[in-house]
Amino acid sequence: MLSPKTTIDLAVRVVENIAKYNVNKIFIMPIIETDQVIIETRNLGKSVPTANGLLHILSSVDLTIHRGDSLAIVGASGSGKSTLLSLMAGLDTPSVGSIQINGKELTAMNEDGRALLRNQLIGFVFQSFQLLPGLTAMENVMLPLELANDKQAEHKAERLLNRVGLAERLQHTPRQLSGGEQQRVALARAFVTEPAILFADEPTGNLDSRTGAQIIELLFQLNAEKQTTLILVTHDNELAGRCQRTIKLDAGKLI
Ligand SMILES: Nc1ncnc2c1ncn2[C@@H]1O[C@H](COP(=O)(O)OP(=O)(O)O)[C@@H](O)[C@H]1O
Ligand SMILES: [Mg+2]
Repeated sequence: MLSPKTTIDLAVRVVENIAKYNVNKIFIMPIIETDQVIIETRNLGKSVPTANGLLHILSSVDLTIHRGDSLAIVGASGSGKSTLLSLMAGLDTPSVGSIQINGKELTAMNEDGRALLRNQLIGFVFQSFQLLPGLTAMENVMLPLELANDKQAEHKAERLLNRVGLAERLQHTPRQLSGGEQQRVALARAFVTEPAILFADEPTGNLDSRTGAQIIELLFQLNAEKQTTLILVTHDNELAGRCQRTIKLDAGKLI
């Protein structure tokens, strides 16, 4: 039991420290950050001209995603899932509506602005891996770091490739790797810059169920460690079930 004097001394020291180091800010900030909206779409739509007139691929999508969330996007083939993902990742531009990423309006940016934002905040994993065929596993993972002028590119790439179980495959090119190994390289490449948001379009779609389960495990381990916001398109019920929230698209609309 502390004496009253010690208790008062302690209280005074705490108050002094709060004033000196702005401690309340340090403690309160993370609480605010977990509630922070990282992506917001309003009335988002995409239409493309076709021989038979305008084709509406997406219409009136309103979506709010908070930092650290994990969200699964499901729906039939052709329902607009990949289009929605590409729009939110700044890989495609909408016909109408707004997309805010971390408070910045994506539709107000040109391609250079979007590229910079992607490099700073976003990682993307494709169903078809999309590794550069002429580069080794190491070089593929180092690439986004080198684009960002990171002097520790080699060290970070090697560490993450070890992490995904590919320590013995660093110098292999994609052709010399199995599908599951290629997807692990793609995952390492997407995570190596420690992006705030990771988009993955059917990341287990081309993998057998056991390899797919390993990829799912890795995604959520890295998500938990780095507080990455995960946005996944999937047909895989197991993968959707691991996400905090699932949304469904039908003919380009949220249902
Ligand atoms: N650039 C485009 N031009 C014409 N049609 C497109 C284009 N992009 C996508 N589509 C069509 O829009 C629909 C939604 O595509 P997509 O977003 O890839 O669906 P999902 O990923 O849910 O399978 C599909 O019918 C597709 O054929
Ligand atoms: Mg798709």
